[in-house]
Amino acid sequence: MRLLQLLMALSLLCGAISCANILAVLPSVWKSHYLFGRRLLQELVASPRNHSITLISPHALEAGGVDAELPNIREIRIEGLKENWVGMGMSFEPEQMRSQSVMERFTRLIYAGTTNVDLLLSDQQVRKLLTSGEQFDLLIVDLFLSDALLGLAYYYGIPTVAISPTGANSWLNNMFGNPQSSSLDPSNFLPFTERMNTQQRIVNSLMSTFERLTYNFFHLISQQTVYSKHFEMLVQELPLYRDLTKNLSLALINSHPGLNYPRAYLPNMVEVGGLHLTARTDLRPLPNHLLSFMESAAGGCIYMSLGADVQTAQLPSEKLAIFMDVFGHLKEFHFVLKWENEDFVSSLELPENVMIANWWPQQAILSHTLVKLFISSCGQLSVWESVMGETPILAIPILAEQEVMAKRLQLNGVSLTVNYDAIAYDALLHGIRQLTLNTSYSESLVKLRKRLGGPSPSSLAVGQIELILDSGGADFLKSHANTLNYWRLEGLDVLVIITIGFVGILTIPFLVISCILRKSYYSEACQDQQPPYRSTLKVVGRVHSYGEPGGTPAEPLRRTRSAQSLSARSSSSSFSSNTTPPTTASTTPLDMTPPPPAVVQLLGHVPSPLQLYVNQQQQQQQIYSNSDLSNRQQASQDDNTERRFS
Ligand SMILES: *[C@@H]1O[C@H](CO)[C@@H](O)[C@H](O)[C@H]1NC(C)=O
Ligand SMILES: *[C@@H]1O[C@H](CO)[C@@H](O)[C@H](O)[C@H]1NC(C)=O
Ligand SMILES: *[C@@H]1O[C@H](CO)[C@@H](O)[C@H](O)[C@H]1NC(C)=O
Repeated sequence: MRLLQLLMALSLLCGAISCANILAVLPSVWKSHYLFGRRLLQELVASPRNHSITLISPHALEAGGVDAELPNIREIRIEGLKENWVGMGMSFEPEQMRSQSVMERFTRLIYAGTTNVDLLLSDQQVRKLLTSGEQFDLLIVDLFLSDALLGLAYYYGIPTVAISPTGANSWLNNMFGNPQSSSLDPSNFLPFTERMNTQQRIVNSLMSTFERLTYNFFHLISQQTVYSKHFEMLVQELPLYRDLTKNLSLALINSHPGLNYPRAYLPNMVEVGGLHLTARTDLRPLPNHLLSFMESAAGGCIYMSLGADVQTAQLPSEKLAIFMDVFGHLKEFHFVLKWENEDFVSSLELPENVMIANWWPQQAILSHTLVKLFISSCGQLSVWESVMGETPILAIPILAEQEVMAKRLQLNGVSLTVNYDAIAYDALLHGIRQLTLNTSYSESLVKLRKRLGGPSPSSLAVGQIELILDSGGADFLKSHANTLNYWRLEGLDVLVIITIGFVGILTIPFLVISCILRKSYYSEACQDQQPPYRSTLKVVGRVHSYGEPGGTPAEPLRRTRSAQSLSARSSSSSFSSNTTPPTTASTTPLDMTPPPPAVVQLLGHVPSPLQLYVNQQQQQQQIYSNSDLSNRQQASQDDNTERRFS
């Protein structure tokens, strides 16, 4: 028994201070996601605690990659995900990406994401790992339309760290219970910055509603299917995966308030923008052939890449022809171009001053003083590298988030934008000349670069992850918002109760008063033995309220008033010209003051309260103005009868 306790204590101690065995799944087919995630893993294995990592992803680093060999990372490469992605109608070609509408892209994304997770979990290597009995201490997962992977955390009974290489999105905020406002936080699928005008806010609200609905009624269901399919046989009593999404320990988000925008985050959502950067001192020197090519240019070097995923080689040939035209014309510069195919396009001639290769050490190039300009699609990772290297950017954004980034950079005075659809000789030439000759861009870059300083994002990320490991999931950082349902979270239940309360407070006195009045009216009316009057006058009496001439205040005024008012209307129409100004009169239903005696003489001349009535009810007068004398007499008869009965 003692021995057992000792062993347990020892293993606990070991678990608490020593290395952890981490499972990382980066299912995204976008290379930029992989590069960001892998960089984090690299930092983890480099930490003094010597963690070991198993990485599952559809990627492998190119032979020329800076850090292809990492001792403590075991990589499991899943084949076929990219093919499935393309098969699902997603594309990496700029033309096709741009031709899809937001909605189409969005729905296709969800399908492609779900089927990719299914493929990944069906893979033989993954199945072998799951049944091997190996234990892990932490799951790191790129949660972009791949929530079913959270079953891994439940299966191993370990906490989860989510990484988000594209910055926060509404789904991630929802999982953590982080505030998200459609007035302040633009959707990732729209090309809006946080400063939205009314129209943009309307579109953004509709989009976030659409995102929420598709998430709840489409994405959740399809991911649940994949989740159940793969984990039901591994785990008894599998919880709903939705409950697992509410139990995440940490999110590492690729954004920075200085480059994106300041917004609220819970303490377990940490912004680590710039995490992927290699420290300047650790950058490897550029290969010699590149260096000599750069140095031989009179005006310096210009680097062009449309990102890790979009291939320059897939640009339509007329656009490529424009680029080559411009490059060939600018003889004073040498151009370094990321070109993914073996050969250049046969129909085009590669200008002398352009060098192509399918992989370049981008950060090292952009940090080099000879590099004067970066022609970029403004992916987040590239922008960081460019700003840190103080290289101005000629932006050619392709996707919505890249458009937003291009807008921000232009606002900061470090870039110019050429719209993809407006790529033309003049626009490119003007952009390149402005950015390379005008020194204002370099000055703004220095300012922006300083803004992005601060605590090192990689030590922040590693520190947070080790906190999660040491505290067994850091449950104390999980927001209470996750235990509330939608109604409670949005405060709708409180709103409904307060509204009911207010309505109640306002209606109770109203009901009581009207009840009392009604009661008094009926009790008066019951004394009255003339049913025909009672029924007709009941209706009219509420509206018109002339006092009974000569009557006492206790009289049932309403009845008599109504009849009187009928006659008053008809008489006033023809006598309104020779009236005296009103003294006291009112048309409010509850007025119980006796009218002046003048009202008695109805037909002879018009009394003063009637004048008031005339003034107040001009419209009604109009209706009655054509009534003849017989009408008036009829009314006066009514009136007399009325008075007899009262
Ligand atoms: C880290 O762990 C690996 C095995 O997982 C081992 O080979 C290596 O020596 C360790 N390094 C340190 C500094 O402990
Ligand atoms: C340089 O660019 C700034 C804006 O970025 C502009 O205001 C200024 O006029 C430009 N200077 C020249 C000489 O074109
Ligand atoms: C939620 O996560 C914690 C660790 O952070 C874990 O102990 C707990 O079992 C998890 N709950 C569920 C339902 O997975």
